[in-house]
Amino acid sequence: MTTRQYIDENRDRFLEELKRLIRIPSISTATEHDQDTHRCAVQVQEYLVRAGLDKAELYPTDGHPIVYAEKILDESLPTVLIYGHYDVQPADPLDEWDTPPFEPTVKKTAHHPEGAIFARGATDDKGQMFIHVKAVETMIQTDSLPCNVKFMIEGEEEIGSPNLVPFISEYKEMLSSDVILISDTSMLSKDAPSITVGLRGLTYLDVKVRSARADMHSGLFGGAVANPINVLCEMIASLKDDDKHITIPGFYDDVEFPSERDRQLMRDAPFDAQEYMDSPGVFGLEGEKGYTTYERTGILPTLDVNGIWGGFTGEGSKTVIPAVANAKISMRLVSNQDYKKITKLFTDHFTSIAPDSVKVEVKPHHGGQPYVTPTDTPEYRAAADAVKEAFGKEPVPMYEGGSIPIVRQFKDVLGVDTILMGFGFDTDGLHSPNEHFGLWNFYKGIETVPEFFKAYAGRK
Ligand code: BES
Ligand code: MN
Ligand code: MN
Repeated sequence: MTTRQYIDENRDRFLEELKRLIRIPSISTATEHDQDTHRCAVQVQEYLVRAGLDKAELYPTDGHPIVYAEKILDESLPTVLIYGHYDVQPADPLDEWDTPPFEPTVKKTAHHPEGAIFARGATDDKGQMFIHVKAVETMIQTDSLPCNVKFMIEGEEEIGSPNLVPFISEYKEMLSSDVILISDTSMLSKDAPSITVGLRGLTYLDVKVRSARADMHSGLFGGAVANPINVLCEMIASLKDDDKHITIPGFYDDVEFPSERDRQLMRDAPFDAQEYMDSPGVFGLEGEKGYTTYERTGILPTLDVNGIWGGFTGEGSKTVIPAVANAKISMRLVSNQDYKKITKLFTDHFTSIAPDSVKVEVKPHHGGQPYVTPTDTPEYRAAADAVKEAFGKEPVPMYEGGSIPIVRQFKDVLGVDTILMGFGFDTDGLHSPNEHFGLWNFYKGIETVPEFFKAYAGRK
């Protein structure tokens, strides 16, 4: 039986199994769902056993377990390590969902005339991760697996993978591989396939500006003391110039742009601005002067306020000069930017621009490094061949805006490069209400992955 025949014969079962996985609310950040998250790991493990992997185990961590599985055909063959995550983001705001977030429902949309599964985690990342479980099952059951394969599926990606870094350091030997394959990103569209070659890094900080010990009467003190909210707003406003270029000294020092050829490919890629704006309903596009929207989200860093608060926010009015103002600020980073270095540049600069009348505190949260996949390698060529075979078109190398911080750790700790072969669309609503994953994308993924294995075994 060919892989295509096997996929055709098992289409409905594949979908039912994915729905079972999606019904489990494995929200990693919510402790009240810890049992569900654990149950989800066990479910993934069971599916891997049934797919025909020789070893499939749960590795407990201080947080949620890691599922590891492998099928080693022959030590002399190349080894593909598949990474994915079974945890999901919280589903709130719940009343914005048209159907319940953990009751997968298939509905047609403009982008998905064949239907899409609506549910939290449908595309990020259960549907995409499950592509690999089914693709490997297909290869094993049709005797066409050409390489060794390992799976590492974690349950803490959405909270920054705190326990995966120690895990990969401890199990370096077990995880040894020639390439890491991930489906947890997007592709351009059905007729414009792409392979993600850039992921942004991230640094996330809390800032606090204080001007006094206590709140004050705005009549008695207003006009004569620093208002920390005004000061904070002025400080934040000064972090970008009129061209939306970030003003922190040294911020762009390690930004390296892709080759002119790759930039041109991105510029030529079909981009529908209206469609991009429609999914969250934005009123207009703006960003750093001189760059396209793709470049602004892919090859440029950002600086954004995620939240800001202070003073009186209750009903009615209260005439007060607050003593404290707060903000949460994040920066997405690219190419060679180092999140620790940027965190320090930000902290030094932000402290230095504060007037003497206030005290500033900066507290970093988590961070992660950006990653760029080299394209002059057998693994990238194999991925491009596989996409060409499955889609009939050469893929565009795309730089994407999101982050998967562990990918750089894979390179630094395991010494292995990653191929980011995503099958979702940016319009699939990941992290949003009514997240969905196209059935076409799901099956296309299951057809493409065996092509990658074949091409990679041939090139390696
Ligand atoms: N799968 C996403 C990242 C992604 C999505 C990359 C689409 C490119 C295209 C991942 O699950 C995610 O949400 N990452 C977080 C990382 C954070 C929790 C450290 C992000 O990007 O905000
Ligand atoms: Mn993801
Ligand atoms: Mn995510």
